[in-house]
Amino acid sequence: MTNPTLASSSSAVSAVRTPSPRHYLMCRPEHFTVTYRINPWMDPSLPTDTALAVAQWTTLYDLYRSLGHTVDLVDQVEGLPDMVYTANGGFVIGNVAYGAKFTHAERQPEGPAFMEWFRDQGYRVIEPQNVNEGEGDFLLVGDTILAGTGFRSASNSHEEVGSIFGREVVTLTLVDPRFYHLDTAISVLTPDTDDAHANIAYLPAAFDAASQTELARRYPDAIHVSDEDGSVLGLNSISDGYNVVISSRAKGFEAQLRAAGYNPIGVDLSELLLGGGGVKCCTLELRR
Ligand code: ARG
Repeated sequence: MTNPTLASSSSAVSAVRTPSPRHYLMCRPEHFTVTYRINPWMDPSLPTDTALAVAQWTTLYDLYRSLGHTVDLVDQVEGLPDMVYTANGGFVIGNVAYGAKFTHAERQPEGPAFMEWFRDQGYRVIEPQNVNEGEGDFLLVGDTILAGTGFRSASNSHEEVGSIFGREVVTLTLVDPRFYHLDTAISVLTPDTDDAHANIAYLPAAFDAASQTELARRYPDAIHVSDEDGSVLGLNSISDGYNVVISSRAKGFEAQLRAAGYNPIGVDLSELLLGGGGVKCCTLELRR
């Protein structure tokens, strides 16, 4: 079950991986700390080091820019330590930003803060009717939106996101509290492609049986990561189609990516892991 699959299939090895420049939103973690616990990774009794969080975050920011990506910044609001996880701030396709409506009271003020940023930048903002945590639970894979539920985003937000963007939405149910957002259990490897060419990596055990069946049917070439790599939030990663920025701790995933023709680049975000987030959580894709 936990064996890496398909990393050695000849079609995967011979595939030509092409990077494309991306546009991201990030938030410098100037007020990062852990003062509450809304996921199993967070422990307010453990010390955090804000300066180290900023330094690690800066490594990621600089890396994106060196890869040719554009990174916009939103200011962190004091008292909203989780704002650094911009992936949860909304879901953006074609200049339309579907706003977030957070599950937990501690993060609820982030919803309007991100919507204000989108409005200021000229995005058309859609106020959310239903609880959803943005790109933490909505992943655009090919033409389809994969949508997570179980811990955070409510399933009625899946219908909402589908009607806003006029796309097929596939509901996936998460069952392991360590993988409470979809982007902790699935990595989108092909950001710019259609359904026929789309590929992902994922941790099957993070999903219920029906979701596992659906993922296996849709993505027969997917990389299945080990529980070990999943457990360091290795899947919480960002691909430009060739370069895949991952946790430097996810050694098995790194080898699988390389075997499949990608260029994995490891970064250490240990401080941000104390809040239960990794590379992807700190990155929201802006699709103009
Ligand atoms: N502490 C944050 C929370 O529990 C972490 C969010 C991580 N974001 C993500 N896209 N997975 O909400």
